[in-house]
Amino acid sequence: HKNSYVFYRYPLTLVRGIPLMEPIANQWDPIENFQARPDDLIISTYPKAGTTWMQEIVDLVLNKGDLEKAHRAPIYVRIPFLEICSPPPMPSGVDKLVNAPSPRVIKTHLPYQLVPKSFWENNCKMIYVARNAKDNLVSYYFFDQMNLTQPDPGTWEEYLTKFMEGKVAWGSWYDHVRRYWDEKDNHRILYVFYEDMKKDLAHEIHRVKDFLQVDLSEDIVQKIVHKATFEIMKENPMANYETVPSSLFDKSKSSFMRKGTVGDWKNYFTVAQREVFDAHYQQKMKGTSLHFQEE
Ligand code: A3P
Repeated sequence: HKNSYVFYRYPLTLVRGIPLMEPIANQWDPIENFQARPDDLIISTYPKAGTTWMQEIVDLVLNKGDLEKAHRAPIYVRIPFLEICSPPPMPSGVDKLVNAPSPRVIKTHLPYQLVPKSFWENNCKMIYVARNAKDNLVSYYFFDQMNLTQPDPGTWEEYLTKFMEGKVAWGSWYDHVRRYWDEKDNHRILYVFYEDMKKDLAHEIHRVKDFLQVDLSEDIVQKIVHKATFEIMKENPMANYETVPSSLFDKSKSSFMRKGTVGDWKNYFTVAQREVFDAHYQQKMKGTSLHFQEE
């Protein structure tokens, strides 16, 4: 049963060419056929782009800065993760969402083409958060060390190659960020950058609240800014994932709220690695108007 449940590092299985954790691939039908409601809001990201940060902000905005309400449950309970699956009998993300009251806020890491069609048919709003490739990669490398359900990242050098080849859970970063960028004007998608949030969080919170059509005074916006700073979220048990058991997240390896900065990649990339990465990046990102700040 639940308490004695043992997790393990699931292998990745391809779903329409995208590597996903095996339990997700094995229970793909209910995800693909998920029934959206018109008032669903989706927060979509490539893993480690700032999902939790945006989840906390959205929850605070929808609750008009009511801090007590934001403390009602851990972030992964407040905003369920659509495609997450453990082997049965653990409830899946879909199990949690089907009976959830409206309006639902839903997290996903699925690339655009794997998002259940029903969301687009219902014209649902989506907030997409993107983070520069190098910081995103570094964050994922440390997360895969501590997250005991994802494949072992291997050495830094090995991980670098896997990331560039898109052979990590949820696939290619390059394809993920580009495709949502290309689609953002075809749907109600608000595209947000992690680096912009670091630079001027109040401004990005204004974009979010305007997109969600929530009226907030400047005082409340400032209250949300404060509550969503890295330092405060790191200490907040309802946001920092410390409620997840150590059989799932090994906190001796890394912490979920690890560093929360722009440019941390410089502490890990050698000059040679940077050159190879940047040359490959130019190819992968050729022809797009999507540009990132990385320092
Ligand atoms: P680092 O590993 O670089 O520290 P996700 O929620 O998508 O898994 O992303 C996690 C990353 O977002 C981690 O990056 C984490 O520290 C960072 N993060 C979470 N909350 C943040 C905040 N309030 N401000 C800045 N970064 C934050």
